[in-house]
Order: sequence, then structure tokens, then C-alpha cells
Amino acid sequence: MLPMTGLRLQSPLRTISVLLVHFLLAHFCRGQSQLIGSPQPIVATIGDDIILPCHLEPAVDITAKTLEWTRPDLDPRFVYLWRAGQDHVKAKNPAYKGRTLFAGELKHGNISLKLSKVKPSDEGRYRCYIPDLTIDSFIVLVVGE
Ligand SMILES: *[C@@H]1O[C@H](CO)[C@@H](O)[C@H](O)[C@H]1NC(C)=O
Repeated sequence: MLPMTGLRLQSPLRTISVLLVHFLLAHFCRGQSQLIGSPQPIVATIGDDIILPCHLEPAVDITAKTLEWTRPDLDPRFVYLWRAGQDHVKAKNPAYKGRTLFAGELKHGNISLKLSKVKPSDEGRYRCYIPDLTIDSFIVLVVGE
């Protein structure tokens, strides 16, 4: 009971200022655009070809930007790396060689990734990231039998 009472007695002005600071930080420090992935895990079956969704809102042409798809738990972490308008195959983790490709249209801010022939070891947390805009989004892949 006591902690609840304490919360209610907190000055509403303070709460509003905290919210305002969060709003300002989100909008002015991280840039206007947002990367949208998937709030739910993507569920796949072994052997499936799947799409890991990720797109920019509002949509802008990102063809000339560096775009990274990574799995932070791997070394090398790159699942797909697009830099200077090219696919950097050499940077890619060998486990993903020949199995990843952009599926969306970069011109329309869509950096969704196609992953072919899903394996159990593909299960994990993927990050799509645009370094220039310092925005990212995480997508979880779950692989079933
Ligand atoms: C992005 O591209 C993927 C793959 O083609 C597609 O499934 C998805 O609907 C596209 N997303 C948007 C927001 O256009």
C-alpha cells in the first residue's frame, strides 16, 4: 500500500517534465526517422525461406547509406553488410554466406532481409542498424522443428 501512496503523491509536474525530456530526447537526439522491425518473434521451420522485417518510417531512399544486419552474439557479427552501394560479402559471418539478401526496396526505406534455408543455429536476436542515422531495431527469430 505504502509505495502506491508514495507514487500518487509525486508531483504531477515532475512526471510531466520527465515525459517531456524523454519525448525531446527521442525526437531530437535520435533523429526523426524510426526503424520498425517486428514486436513479435518471427517463427520459422527448418528449411524455410523467411523475411526478417525492418523498414524506415518515414520512408526515405537509403540506397547510399551503410546498412547493417548483425547478430551481436556472433563473431563476426555481420549477417549482411551493405556499404557504399555494395554487398560486402567478405565481412559476413560464414554461417550466412549465400543465404542472406535484401528483400525490400532500399529506395523506399525497406531493409527487410531474406534468409534462406533456415537452420536451428539461426535462432537468435538480429539487429538492423543504420549507423548514419544511429537508429536500430531488434528482431527475434525462433526456429522450430
Ligand atoms: C518490405 O519488404 C518486404 C519484403 O519484400 C515486404 O514483405 C514488406 O511488406 C515490406 N515492408 C514495407 C513496409 O513496405
